[in-house]
Amino acid sequence: MDPYKLVLAPMEGVVDHTMRDLLTRVGGYDRCVTEFVRVVDRQLPTRVFYRACPELLTGGKTPAGTPVYVQLLGGNPLYMALNAQVLERLGAPGIDINFGCPSKTVNNSDGGSVLLREPQRVHDIVQAVRAAVSPQIPVTAKIRLGFKDSSLLADITQGIQAAGASEMCIHARTKQHGYLPPAYWAEIGKVKPHLHLPVIANGEIWSVADAIQARTESGCVDLMLGRGALSFPDLAVAIRARLAGEAYTPLSWAQVLPLVVQYATELEARAPQYAASFIKQWFTYLRRQYPEAETLFQHIKRMKLPGEIKTAIIA
Ligand SMILES: Cc1cc2nc3c(=O)[nH]c(=O)nc-3n(C[C@H](O)[C@H](O)[C@H](O)COP(=O)(O)O)c2cc1C
Repeated sequence: MDPYKLVLAPMEGVVDHTMRDLLTRVGGYDRCVTEFVRVVDRQLPTRVFYRACPELLTGGKTPAGTPVYVQLLGGNPLYMALNAQVLERLGAPGIDINFGCPSKTVNNSDGGSVLLREPQRVHDIVQAVRAAVSPQIPVTAKIRLGFKDSSLLADITQGIQAAGASEMCIHARTKQHGYLPPAYWAEIGKVKPHLHLPVIANGEIWSVADAIQARTESGCVDLMLGRGALSFPDLAVAIRARLAGEAYTPLSWAQVLPLVVQYATELEARAPQYAASFIKQWFTYLRRQYPEAETLFQHIKRMKLPGEIKTAIIA
């Protein structure tokens, strides 16, 4: 692989193990991260981890061989550490800690981006998880620029580094910014020169041109792709081609459609209760890149049954 990393972002409610399988088969990713597993005040049963990361049953890798780190979210260092130990026993290739989730429910239960107001606690959580598992297991942190603003970013990032994290990913927006464009990649560029651990830039990378600009402004070579990966399923391949100076023609809608059908088929079999919402969610991203997806989305958006949606897609 090239001397930089492209990571598929965790996305609750859409990047589940079926999507990880599909996108890592398309290729270009060095790693995935699961949707967050919320840790409050107990050691969770192993079934919770297997549900979030069925890849734990296959060596922690997708069928294409891409490692999947499991993401924990919580504010209590002790329980975060205990659950990290469970993950080590289950063979997780790495553990990621979520300090970015803006959700009210999550923040009210002391987890996600609300912790960015307290750099010392961020440090303590990372340190506790780091100390709880073997040194060869990577422990990574995923943060935003801050809660209200980026005034604590230097403290937060120094604390994460001092706590022994292997890497950190910075979503270049504050909690206050939510998911609204733009992403402030240059804010990462302000702290990056003072850090020696690898820093992964994330946020608002929808195209190869965005990837190049994010790298330039942030000073990071490594990138994490979220919604862009869903809208442009071969975005990571296209970025790699550009960085290697090779020509590349992105997948056409005719090439993407079989992936969508495969996704719908697998979800219908595995999780019929949430299949319809996951499929529609993917379409909300695909329609950004493909006009054909917009037309189909308008047709399926009120459908409730995965079988019905699949028939409409294939027709
Ligand atoms: C629907 C949705 C679900 C997300 N779920 C998670 C999550 O479980 N854990 C996490 O760390 N980030 C989560 N994120 C944030 C993404 O990983 C990423 O940081 C964010 O979308 C910015 O990257 P992008 O602009 O490339 O999408 C989620 C984002 C979205 C839109």
